[in-house]
Amino acid sequence: MNPVHVSQRVIRLFFLPALLGAQCASSLAQPLPIDVLHWWTSAGERLAVEQLHTQLLLNGVRWKDVAIPGGGGMAAVKVLKSRVLMGDPPDTAQLIGATLKDWDDVGLVMPLTAVASRQQWAQTVFPTVLNLITYKGVVIAAPLGIHRINTLLYNRHVFVRLGLLPPTNWEEFAVVAQKLSGQGIKPLAWSDEAWQIATVFEAVLLGEVGPKRYRELIVNRKSSAWLSPDIDKALERLRWLRTISGEVPRERPWTESAREITSETAAMFIMGDWAKGELMAWGASPERDFGCVAVPGTRQMHLYSVDTLAMLRNARKRTATQEKLAEVVTTAQSQLAYNRIKGSVPARNDIDPASLDPCARDSWTAFAARDAALVPSLAHRMAADEATKDAVAQVLWRFLINPQMQVNEAKRRLALAVRSP
Ligand code: BGC
Repeated sequence: MNPVHVSQRVIRLFFLPALLGAQCASSLAQPLPIDVLHWWTSAGERLAVEQLHTQLLLNGVRWKDVAIPGGGGMAAVKVLKSRVLMGDPPDTAQLIGATLKDWDDVGLVMPLTAVASRQQWAQTVFPTVLNLITYKGVVIAAPLGIHRINTLLYNRHVFVRLGLLPPTNWEEFAVVAQKLSGQGIKPLAWSDEAWQIATVFEAVLLGEVGPKRYRELIVNRKSSAWLSPDIDKALERLRWLRTISGEVPRERPWTESAREITSETAAMFIMGDWAKGELMAWGASPERDFGCVAVPGTRQMHLYSVDTLAMLRNARKRTATQEKLAEVVTTAQSQLAYNRIKGSVPARNDIDPASLDPCARDSWTAFAARDAALVPSLAHRMAADEATKDAVAQVLWRFLINPQMQVNEAKRRLALAVRSP
């Protein structure tokens, strides 16, 4: 077990009961359980959840875990739907981006405006994040952290050994890839899971067309915009990236790809920076063992996915405790502790970036910049509802697994998919 893991367990097992004991006399006689439905099940994600658990216990809230395995949350969303249909929504759920608003429309989500104003989120939370969690003038979720999707992780040892520099554009990437292949190392770890393909594609697309066009395509989702020639390059590049490793691609969890980076089977990996959290959970260090740069062509752009927790209405009526949970997870202390492990960065503007690791510092600084080029992730529900996201991911997946499909056909299908109801 790695040292972070050990120290976390030690704190929970030995010190926490004592700390809680000291506070019991005041308000914390019986920490109330709040069941939280989420999809954080990898090693790094588990450690990050444990950190939240710890912060909450110190404040008299007990996190009851309802973890549904499955990267990108496909299964968790289905479980949430069925629990709601059965009339038993959890107290809290990992609801993010556009889906948050969909659930609010059916009356499931509890308002958090009172918490937000008590905790002064208007002053401390980044405006882009606040905007994302505000619907019809009401704050409807607690922000946990900001992930950067346009992240390219690379193994520092391999790069140093072969005298390579992390690529900043696709020409450099191609040269690096060739050298790596020549040494028998896979240039890029790959999975054919639809959500992972969509994750890579949107980062490639951003690099190819820039933030303004990206917004037109992904945020405004103008069908005709998808038919123009600049999309061709992004689609062709996606096909190329899938093949450069020279092996038959297959669907596999993102953690397997991350494992290839630590074992030096592969040298690079394009994935949201939760993959950084994973590598750290396995004992790798972003200063020593691996590095992160923006996906080629996207330097200083931030393709974001913000993790948020929504408090749901149900028969248990634990409103006060749900509000407490929202309050605790958004304090500067919790945000720093949690995001340091999760791989993301605090959703707050009042932290010292010097206290972050180099990948996180880059991400937070790019997000906080006055003239920041911030664009929302489609693959991670920031820009459109679940159905649209799935429709786009399906088209991309089909385009990759069917080499007969022409680029023009894929574009036509994408133009339809972005308009899914
Ligand atoms: C979530 C992350 C999670 C990742 C992998 C993303 O959609 O925002 O928190 O780590 O999926 O499951």
